[in-house]
Amino acid sequence: MILVTGATGNVGAQVVRAVAATGAPVRALSRAGSPEGLPPGAQAAAGDLNRPESVRSALTGVDALFLLPGYGGQRQILADAREAGVRRVVLLSSGSIPGGERTNAVTGYMMESEDAARDSGLAWTFLRPCAFMSNTLEWADQLRKGDVVRAAFPEVRAAVLDPYDIGEVAARVLLAPPGPYDGRALALSGPVALTPADRVRILAEVLGRPLRFEGLTNEEARADFAARMPEAYVDAFFRFYVDGTLDESPVRDTVEKVTGRAPRTFEQWAQEHVHAFDPAA
Ligand SMILES: NC(=O)c1ccc[n+]([C@@H]2O[C@H](COP(=O)([O-])OP(=O)(O)OC[C@H]3O[C@@H](n4cnc5c(N)ncnc54)[C@H](OP(=O)(O)O)[C@@H]3O)[C@@H](O)[C@H]2O)c1
Repeated sequence: MILVTGATGNVGAQVVRAVAATGAPVRALSRAGSPEGLPPGAQAAAGDLNRPESVRSALTGVDALFLLPGYGGQRQILADAREAGVRRVVLLSSGSIPGGERTNAVTGYMMESEDAARDSGLAWTFLRPCAFMSNTLEWADQLRKGDVVRAAFPEVRAAVLDPYDIGEVAARVLLAPPGPYDGRALALSGPVALTPADRVRILAEVLGRPLRFEGLTNEEARADFAARMPEAYVDAFFRFYVDGTLDESPVRDTVEKVTGRAPRTFEQWAQEHVHAFDPAA
């Protein structure tokens, strides 16, 4: 049995899909434990990653655990997992770890999560993705209302990655025999580095709409971020993308090496998410 946390999210849902597609038994954990939208055969389980006792029963009979980073209960959940006979944890981490600073709030919580997995006594593998294609869903409100996208950090190129491919890689690692992926950190990217304006251009082609991109100034971006996240995270993103401490432009061959096929393109992601940008939705 594979237990997937964050199972209703962009990444977790893809891990559940990819494991279920192999025919292996999979249990999908979210706070509500809703079975809605799960692939046939997948079990739903309820649990809060900040309350380890609420996750304990979902660990029964589990061989491998896909864990989201940064939750308060992670060390206890990993200890409970070991106690329950779980052999392996695959941790969703971040591409900001190599050369990253623990004083950066985002990198810091990712490092703590990696430390917890390393200390757990379980076999571990870290997935270190760059920015997700699904972050584009942040533009959905703007694109339902009009044809202009205003977004931060216009100059920053990132080889954005489809959560579909994280699911494909995670499933292979979760189901692998002991050995090849144990104790390894896998750096993951999509197939090409894109600026926000490149993504808007591709979305325009896919949606068949005359979309336009406008970069926010750094002052505008800071105010926008401050309205929706804690100050420490605002600073973290400014350190990444304004100070340039994180470069997400390198294209990695890891998805292809692990899955045997190229990572999905942003065009493919956009085609599958047309509905999210529909003004009638
Ligand atoms: N976005 C990026 O570019 C990026 C890059 C690198 C790493 N990451 C990491 O990837 C993670 C997952 O991203 P995502 O886009 O898949 O996130 P998401 O779509 O927001 O999904 C988050 C998932 O976590 C669950 N969840 C939230 N709080 C929980 C709690 N207390 N206990 C149990 N489950 C809880 C949610 O389910 P319910 O609400 O249904 O419980 C949902 O299934 C991020 O949080 C970040 O740490 C992101």
